[in-house]
Amino acid sequence: MGISLGLTHVGRAEPKKLKPLRILILGGTAFLGPHQIKHALARGHKITTFTRGQTEPTVNREVFERVESLIGDRNDNLDALEGRKWDAVIDNSATYPRWVKQTTDILKENVDTYLFTSTLSVHASFEKKGLTEDDPVAITEDPTVEDMKYYGALKALSEDVTRKAFGKRAIIVRPHLIVGPGDRTDRWTYWPVRISEGGEVLAPGHPDRPAQYIDVKDLAEFNIRLIENRAAGTYSVVGPISPFSMAEMLYGIRAVVSNSVSFTWVDQDFLMENDVAPWREMTAWMPSGGKRDGFSSFNNFRAVSAGLTFRPLAETARSTLDWWATLPKDRRATPKAGLARKKEKRVLDKWHNRR
Ligand SMILES: NC(=O)c1ccc[n+]([C@@H]2O[C@H](COP(=O)([O-])OP(=O)(O)OC[C@H]3O[C@@H](n4cnc5c(N)ncnc54)[C@H](OP(=O)(O)O)[C@@H]3O)[C@@H](O)[C@H]2O)c1
Repeated sequence: MGISLGLTHVGRAEPKKLKPLRILILGGTAFLGPHQIKHALARGHKITTFTRGQTEPTVNREVFERVESLIGDRNDNLDALEGRKWDAVIDNSATYPRWVKQTTDILKENVDTYLFTSTLSVHASFEKKGLTEDDPVAITEDPTVEDMKYYGALKALSEDVTRKAFGKRAIIVRPHLIVGPGDRTDRWTYWPVRISEGGEVLAPGHPDRPAQYIDVKDLAEFNIRLIENRAAGTYSVVGPISPFSMAEMLYGIRAVVSNSVSFTWVDQDFLMENDVAPWREMTAWMPSGGKRDGFSSFNNFRAVSAGLTFRPLAETARSTLDWWATLPKDRRATPKAGLARKKEKRVLDKWHNRR
């Protein structure tokens, strides 16, 4: 007689069948979009994108064969959206409130749920640690100004437009720094790429300084989960699950490369004196004290309660490196962020030779 593991179906509730949704992505072809599409298709949903047809994805290209593509312009041509119905919209491509007003006007009668991709930069101040969704947001004196200089405040106004149009059907997602395959800004990518080159790596400030980011795939999966669950509300989307430090991040990335690497932690005042820029050159790092002290200490409790999950850092680092290796050589030779190698060497030499 065989051994029974008790895996009978008697008395078991059948899992609820997922209803396939028709999802419109305003955008969809740059960084976050291709990951949202891949995950949504795998869940059985149908996807339409709306873009100008200019941006070519560098990741998940194969999924676009299964996507309906509408062409227009958020600025002045929304004809392709008229008279169409979807279950949900994901709005990735707007910062200006006017753009959101125009699309919500057209779509609010024909769509159930509207997910607006905002940003954690909406907050009025970043001095406090543990900022939550209920903390105040930035404001502009002129809400009609269309200048990315006011990115945070314009995103906050766009959130309001979404809430006003969709009420309890509005989902607002505020990601931290989005990282992983397909990132066009090269910010977090700097660390896996630099560490994989080996040698002495300049590391910023104190090793215990907190670090935060969100893996693009975790964000994409969370977006689709919120839509499936019709989980209206505002969410700070940031990982990892519990506080971790710059040292844990950099040593965690080192664990996925095979070169010999050492880190030299350089005092933050010394970095400032030598014009090393936080965030742009020392990516994903903000100095302690001052106006951005809390930028790496956001509270993620609400999103985690709503089902946000996190890949291990090693997976994020490895997949970023694998994707980076697929880019053309000249693209890789001219990264848009991170510390230039010559400057890194110059600063390290100066640091070692200080009195
Ligand atoms: N990267 C980060 O770390 C970060 C952090 C927080 C929040 N966010 C937010 O995350 C969102 C996701 O960005 P993503 O670029 O990854 O999204 P995406 O959906 O992958 O791509 C953006 C899309 O917008 C389209 N687009 C741009 N201008 C347009 C226009 N005038 N009319 C119609 N379509 C237009 C582009 O296609 P065409 O060029 O072909 O039109 C592209 O498909 C953004 O809202 C950003 O503010 C990003």
